[in-house]
Amino acid sequence: MSEQKIKKPAAVISVAIQKGGSAKTTLAVNLAAELGSQGYNVLVIDVDPQANASAHISVAHPSTLSKNASTLFRGNLEEIMASIQVETNPGFENVHLIPGSLELDQSVEESLRNHSPRPYEEMRRRIGLLREAYDVIIIDTPPSLRLLTGNALAASTHYIVPIETSSQYPLYGVADLVAYIERIKESINPDLVNIGVLISRHDERRRAC
Ligand SMILES: Nc1ncnc2c1ncn2[C@@H]1O[C@H](COP(=O)(O)OP(=O)(O)OP(=O)(O)O)[C@@H](O)[C@H]1O
Ligand SMILES: [Mg+2]
Repeated sequence: MSEQKIKKPAAVISVAIQKGGSAKTTLAVNLAAELGSQGYNVLVIDVDPQANASAHISVAHPSTLSKNASTLFRGNLEEIMASIQVETNPGFENVHLIPGSLELDQSVEESLRNHSPRPYEEMRRRIGLLREAYDVIIIDTPPSLRLLTGNALAASTHYIVPIETSSQYPLYGVADLVAYIERIKESINPDLVNIGVLISRHDERRRAC
């Protein structure tokens, strides 16, 4: 990687689609590993309560970690810094992690909804300092279009949509996803850029593909 390619503040890339099992996590962790192996300093933020990306990347099991991505929704700077896992598994060179946790589902969604004056903008408000410390930030999102995904998209500079083409079902939700992202762009984040759609499990023998 040449020095000229590094442009801080970091690009923030959300991997998002509300359909479960669409390879969001697979894409997020492999993209992080590849960029890390090229010498980029990468931070993965796991805002999925399932914490699947964290299970790939973290040395310790995500459920044993006391600090997690909830700090990005309601923490102060010190708590956010304390939630960064610097030690990560082999294959994740130069990759740091802010892990996912069930806490995101159980209490963060609820406190955003009930107590935040700007429930979609808490993460956007807090991510600025991290953007100065990394080359790329990748956010793995849950299979929903609720506040966790909304915050991730509002805090991002870019997004990628992974779509599995081996069945027609993933396509049904794409119009809803596009409308949701348009609303976030109009109300909060007009500069959000779509990097593209990543097609997976493509099989030309099937009519759906
Ligand atoms: N290209 C592929 N070919 C075959 N299997 C794949 C491919 N991509 C992902 N998978 C598998 O599909 C399953 C779902 O992938 P993954 O967990 O990345 O999806 P997800 O969108 O993150 O799911 P969730 O919505 O639950 O977070 C995993 O078992 C993964 O290993
Ligand atoms: Mg996932």
